[in-house]
Amino acid sequence: MEARTDFRCPACGDLLEIAYPNWSDNSARPQSVVLTDLWLRRRASPLPLDQSGVWRFREILPQEIGEAEVVTLREGNTPLYPLPRCAESAGVKHLLAKHQGINPTGSFKDTGMTVAASVAKQQGFRWVACASTGNTSASMAAYAACAGMKSLVLVPQGKISWGKLSQALDYGAVTCELKSDFDGCMSVLNQVVERMPVYLLNSVNPYRIEGQKTAAFELMEQLNWQVPDHVIVPGGNLGNSSALGKAFFEMKQLGLISALPKISIIQAEGANPLVRTMRETGGKKLIAVHPETMASAIRIGNPASWKKAVCVLETTGGTVEQVSEVEIALAKAEIGADGVGCEPASAVTLAGLKKLVRQGFVKPAESVVLILTGHLLKDPEFTLKFHRGDLFAAGEAQVFGIAQAQRRPLVLEATADAVISTLEDADRDCQP
Ligand code: F0G
Repeated sequence: MEARTDFRCPACGDLLEIAYPNWSDNSARPQSVVLTDLWLRRRASPLPLDQSGVWRFREILPQEIGEAEVVTLREGNTPLYPLPRCAESAGVKHLLAKHQGINPTGSFKDTGMTVAASVAKQQGFRWVACASTGNTSASMAAYAACAGMKSLVLVPQGKISWGKLSQALDYGAVTCELKSDFDGCMSVLNQVVERMPVYLLNSVNPYRIEGQKTAAFELMEQLNWQVPDHVIVPGGNLGNSSALGKAFFEMKQLGLISALPKISIIQAEGANPLVRTMRETGGKKLIAVHPETMASAIRIGNPASWKKAVCVLETTGGTVEQVSEVEIALAKAEIGADGVGCEPASAVTLAGLKKLVRQGFVKPAESVVLILTGHLLKDPEFTLKFHRGDLFAAGEAQVFGIAQAQRRPLVLEATADAVISTLEDADRDCQP
């Protein structure tokens, strides 16, 4: 398992950058059943490495990281939830959500950060850095602190949620709010990295992608290696869709699965560079945009990993779609009403699914997995504004049926009678 090869997109042959164990020599290749058994058994082990939902899959991770160097907060091992009411409203029978928001810092970023932070530690870096719309910075700051490294965070001023900003501060990052957007922060950081010995932890870092891959392996384990028809993922800087695509290519190559799911990527209408790139250039040339969306995590106009995302779309037969601000907010409240909840950027998946069903791209009998990327509590301001009716202008809310999804807090006299009468009213309202 020492020898390694580069990995190329099966569709266009483009180098997808990252090498992985070369098992083309059959004598060195572990049998798939041995691997799946080993990964499952590790869940019962008390060792930190085995308890991590990333490192228990270490056979498919870069082999050069010493076990003693691993920085883990026991990430991964996230639940796969049914979404029965969302399924009904989208018009599909089988709908599941892989909730990557149930990670130590509340987003999928932890699965990649554990690997990349371990590399930074092994290489002896004192400083790690990222530009972020909030989740990467929260995650990086936590893993850096855990490893005894310093962290530098660049975020767009006033454009990330308070929840995420407060995480970076609490985990001890040097946090700079720049008068720019994410893409501007990224370009400043690239200049800093050229001049200072800091280790870049954005998703262009290949080790992040390797760690994020494990979510797909874990998903397939949870589905007993039966491939769903569709996997739907939000698109921002497009690292995650690339990671999931790579994971499915590898699983197929390893004989763990027999087919690929269609991986589709959903963006906000106001931050839709991939949608425009596919529709206007057939995926040949990036069309960057000036991003604007309340789903601040995916407020990105110039995504770094767009080429890899195009490869994933073309190879798996997935599609791209864009959704409006109102559609995002409504989908978020619906995911909440299934008892699951997520942050706005994750809800684009359900909003996108509804469109794909209407277009006939997703058939009612097909199985669908939504990748929920961040926890509901990441952006409480958005949620409160939505339910209080402050997120949209009144007319907009009526037209799109938002009002029915709103659950306002009720201010009552402190008496049992007042509460009971409210309860009775609510009960009448929900009778069939
Ligand atoms: N969902 C959430 C909650 C995110 O935080 C991000 C990206 C995405 C989806 C999109 O993933 O960039 O891999 O396509 N957040 C980054 C950050 C950019 O800085 O936290 P992607």
